[in-house]
Amino acid sequence: KQPESHILVIFGASGDLTKRKLIPALYELHTQNLLPEKLAVLGVARTKLTDLEFRENMKEFLPDQQHTQKDIDAFLEHLYYQPLSTADAVDYPILKKRLELLSKELSIPENYIFYLSTPPNLYEIIPQSLAEVGLNEPVSGYKRLIIEKPFGTDLKSAKELNKNLLNYFNEDQLYRIDHYLGKETVQNMLVTRFSNGIFEPIWNRNFIHHVEITSAETLGVEDRGGYYDHSGAMRDMVQNHLMQLVGLVAMEPPVVIEADAIRNETLKVFQSLRPITEAEVAKNVIRGQYIRSNHGKEPVIGYREEHGVDPLSKTETYLAMKFFIDNFRWAGVPFYIRTGKKLPARVTEVVIHFKNTPHHLFGNTDNADAINNQLVLRIQPDEGILLKIGMKVPGAGFHVQTVNMDFHYSELSDVYLPSAYGRLLLDCMQGDATLYSRGDAVEKAWEFVQPILNAWQNNPEIPVYGYPAGTWGPEVVDDLMEEGMWRYPCKN
Ligand code: BG6
Repeated sequence: KQPESHILVIFGASGDLTKRKLIPALYELHTQNLLPEKLAVLGVARTKLTDLEFRENMKEFLPDQQHTQKDIDAFLEHLYYQPLSTADAVDYPILKKRLELLSKELSIPENYIFYLSTPPNLYEIIPQSLAEVGLNEPVSGYKRLIIEKPFGTDLKSAKELNKNLLNYFNEDQLYRIDHYLGKETVQNMLVTRFSNGIFEPIWNRNFIHHVEITSAETLGVEDRGGYYDHSGAMRDMVQNHLMQLVGLVAMEPPVVIEADAIRNETLKVFQSLRPITEAEVAKNVIRGQYIRSNHGKEPVIGYREEHGVDPLSKTETYLAMKFFIDNFRWAGVPFYIRTGKKLPARVTEVVIHFKNTPHHLFGNTDNADAINNQLVLRIQPDEGILLKIGMKVPGAGFHVQTVNMDFHYSELSDVYLPSAYGRLLLDCMQGDATLYSRGDAVEKAWEFVQPILNAWQNNPEIPVYGYPAGTWGPEVVDDLMEEGMWRYPCKN
C-alpha cells in the first residue's frame, strides 16, 4: 500500500549518511513509484542553504543509473531545507513553524518522520527539543522518530539512551535502524526457514552441528578512523548487525509476521545467549587488528597508521567468537561469528553445518569422511542460497563428491533488489516497525557483549593479534573453531 503523505525531516542533512544512503534510497523509491502522493523531505543542518541550493547539492548523490531529467527534477522538487542549530532547543519553534507552513502550502497532513542522521551526542537534545514544542505528539498526524546506530556505546549508555527516548516518545513511535534487517536476503532467511516444509524440522540441535556467520569487508576504516577507533568491530558490527542475524537464524517461528511477534522472538534468542564471562573471553573471543601488508602490488597501510587512529590503538578491526544459545532448540550447538575489515573478500553469509550421517557407507569420500552438508545463505554480495550435498561420481564403485545446488538472485533478471535503506524508509512511512530493532532487544544484545568489552578493558594482556591487510585474519582463529574449519567463501 502507498504510504500516507507526510514530511520527512532529516537532521544532519549535510552529513555523509544523508548523501550516501538516504537521498539515493529516496530517489530509488521515487523511481519505483513507491513514495506517497505528497512528500516533502526537509533537510535540517546548521549550514545556511536555500531550498534550491540544497536541491543542487543533493543532485550529485542521486544513484548512477539511467534516469531522465524529468525524473530528477520531479524528485528534487520534494526537497526542502531549513537551517537550524540542532543542538539549540531555542531554535525548535522555527522548525515547528516551517513544518506548519509546508504542511499548509503542500496540503500534507501533519504526519512527520524525524530522521536523526546526526552524531549520537545529539540523540538526547533533539528528541527533547522536539517534545518541548509538541512535535512528539501524534495529534493531527503521526510523529515518528528514526535513529541510527550506535545505540549507546555500552550497556549503561544504551539503557540511558532508551530511557531518554522514552521520556519523549512512545516505543511505537521509535524506529531504530539496523540496516542489516533491511537487506532483502536477511529477510529471506525468515522465508527460507518458515515457508519450506523441509528445513524447519531439521533446524535444531538434532541435525545441526554448528552455525557459522561471517561478515567480511575488504575496506578498511576509510575516513572514519576517529569514530572507529572508539568503536571497534564489537560495537560497530557484532552488537547490532551480527546479533540480528543470529536472532533470525535462531528464533522460534513467530506467531505472525508482525513487528512485535517477530521482535519478541528475537528478544528470546538474546535472552537465551549463554553469557561469556570475563574469565572465558581470552579463550572464546579472538580480536585482531590489520597491520601493514607488503604482499600485494601496492603496500597497504596498517590500522594504526590510518588517519584519526591512535598509533598505539588496541581497537579490534577483526573479531571471531564462539558462543552457545541455551534453549531447547540449540542446546549444545556452537555458534561462530567473525567479522573484519581489510579481509580478502567482501562477503556476508550464514552457514548451517549439518551433522554427518551416523554411519559412513562410502569410505572414499572426497574428504575421507562423510559429506558435510552445508546450507549457505549468502547475504551479499552474490545474493543467493547454496546447498552442498554428496553425489555419486559417475562410473565404477561408489565414489562420493560434494556438489552444489546453487541459486543466485542475479538469475532472476526482472527482479529488483531494493536497497536496505529504501526498504526501511518505506516501512517506516507505512508504520511498520518489523524490521527495526526494539529497545529491549538492543539492551539484551549489549548485555551479552558487555563482559567481553570489560574483559578487554581490564586485561590488557589479552592479545590483539595483528593480521596483514588482505588476509583472512589472525591464524589463531583456526583453534577457536573446534568443529572443523572456517569456510573461506571466495575459495568455495
Ligand atoms: C556499518 C558499519 O554499520 O556497516 C561499517 O558502521 C560497516 O563499519 C557497514 O562497513 C557494513 O555494512 P554493509 O551493508 O556494507 O555490510
